[in-house]
Amino acid sequence: MKDILQELEERRENARLGGGQRRIDAHHGKGKLTARERIELLLDEGSFEEFDMFVAHRCNDFGMDAERPAGDGVVTGWGTINGRIVYVFSQDFTVFGGSLSETHSQKICKIMDMALQNGAPVIGLNDSGGARIQEGVMSLAGYADVFQRNVIASGVVPQISVIMGPCAGGAVYSPAMTDFIFMVKDTSYMFVTGPDVVKTVTNEVVTAEELGGASTHTKKSSVADKAFENDVEAMAEVRRLVDFLPLNNREKPPVRPFFDDPARIDDSLDTLVPENPNTPYDMKELIIKLADEGDFYEIQEEFAKNIITGFIRLEGSTVGVVANQPVVLAGCLDIDSSRKAGRFVRFCDAFEIPILTLVDVPGFLPGTSQEYNGVIKHGAKLLFAYSEATVPKVTVITRKAYGGAYVVMASKHLRGDFNYAWPTAEIAVMGAKGATEILYRSELDDPEKIAARAAEYEERFANPFVAAEKGFVDEVIMPHSTRRRVCRAFASLRNKKLQNPWKKHDNIPL
Ligand code: HXC
Repeated sequence: MKDILQELEERRENARLGGGQRRIDAHHGKGKLTARERIELLLDEGSFEEFDMFVAHRCNDFGMDAERPAGDGVVTGWGTINGRIVYVFSQDFTVFGGSLSETHSQKICKIMDMALQNGAPVIGLNDSGGARIQEGVMSLAGYADVFQRNVIASGVVPQISVIMGPCAGGAVYSPAMTDFIFMVKDTSYMFVTGPDVVKTVTNEVVTAEELGGASTHTKKSSVADKAFENDVEAMAEVRRLVDFLPLNNREKPPVRPFFDDPARIDDSLDTLVPENPNTPYDMKELIIKLADEGDFYEIQEEFAKNIITGFIRLEGSTVGVVANQPVVLAGCLDIDSSRKAGRFVRFCDAFEIPILTLVDVPGFLPGTSQEYNGVIKHGAKLLFAYSEATVPKVTVITRKAYGGAYVVMASKHLRGDFNYAWPTAEIAVMGAKGATEILYRSELDDPEKIAARAAEYEERFANPFVAAEKGFVDEVIMPHSTRRRVCRAFASLRNKKLQNPWKKHDNIPL
């Protein structure tokens, strides 16, 4: 008996070494943690239960029969984050570069199936050279099996991908179909084909960092949602995100203890909006002042900064926030901000997370670049997302709500439940200058007349009361009482039931 116990311990020890001490040292030398060290940081202490520790690949080509490391390059299992269950896979770069083989894929698929069956999130820690070259089509088939599960699980359980090393080929398409992608600065890359192939095919010379580093994907391509300084910070931040999310689409988001008075008055909000309607102010200040304990988890912070998306808690319950940011491009909507916010709204709706929308938007960004690149279709994504969303929707217009953008930003017309406006709100088809220049074109050479016309327009429309008279704004509220009003509104909507008609799926303008 003792011998068998010892054998198990030895086998476990051997499996924990992955690709061997030499490769582990090289891996540490790059500032990266091993697959198992990452899991330890991600999960509650001692909560990890591993599956398939002894699974080995079945390939005999290219001398692979001489090396069959236990675990086959991926550590899989489940554990808890602050007591709530999650399933995890963590690729081991020290074993064939974390590349995906038939058996490696089967291990990932097993925990994905369990996550779906048991209604818990899947977190993938990706560090992989893509398809295991020696296994040919078997590894491609393995990827396809993972992709299929990503899609089936989409909207059922949250899926989070963390890119923690070079991820090429198939290794980027699975993350691309998950809900959130995080990267680690300086050590992670995502590309369909690496710099060498790029050089051969297009003659472009580009570094891995430029082609697919964290900066590229969080600022330019928007493939990634956030980038962290190192593996330790990445694991801590994923824990923080998971705390905001429900375990699956049939559960409500978790309610956390809170120590912030829901009726807290904030007098500084009465002066947040500057006197001059063209002077910007930082909308993040409002978000932080509304949130329980000022805790805001921002998503895609570095991309399309003219719109802000992220999670807060109100009375301990998760709320998704979408807010125009007047500091950047005057907070206008454009292609990038519509895509960013549209995707966020759909995530919230899929997982029953109520949405708070803070509006200060002068309209859609005009111009050939926007039109040629399809602002009509991209803008429609956000319109579509808000219109189909059935979760509680509370909207606060702080200042401008002009034109189509007024409608898009969770207006009453798109089934907004509570639509509030501050007294500084201006709800109109467009700003006074633009409007008078169109309506009174013949008077354009008389600046005095035009100024008078603009003043008349402002007097008539630069306020929330015309919309309030029509019932499009439910109430004009004092800025200082916004937290109280919004908390009460969401509290009253906790049992909201609204369903769209049955359909196979909609046809959002992709
Ligand atoms: C098998 C691989 C591998 C792979 C790396 N290794 N990628 N083994 N299949 N795809 C092995 C290496 O042989 C090496 O083994 C170890 O992993 C570490 O690799 P290095 O090259 O030494 O590391 P590094 O210099 O850090 O470079 C990492 C890398 C590079 C950028 C990922 O290895 C690379 O470019 N690999 C190939 C990427 C790629 O083209 N993959 C196929 C994509 S096609 P030893 O024994 O020396 O430690 C694809 C199609 C899927 O994925 C499509 C699905 C739809």
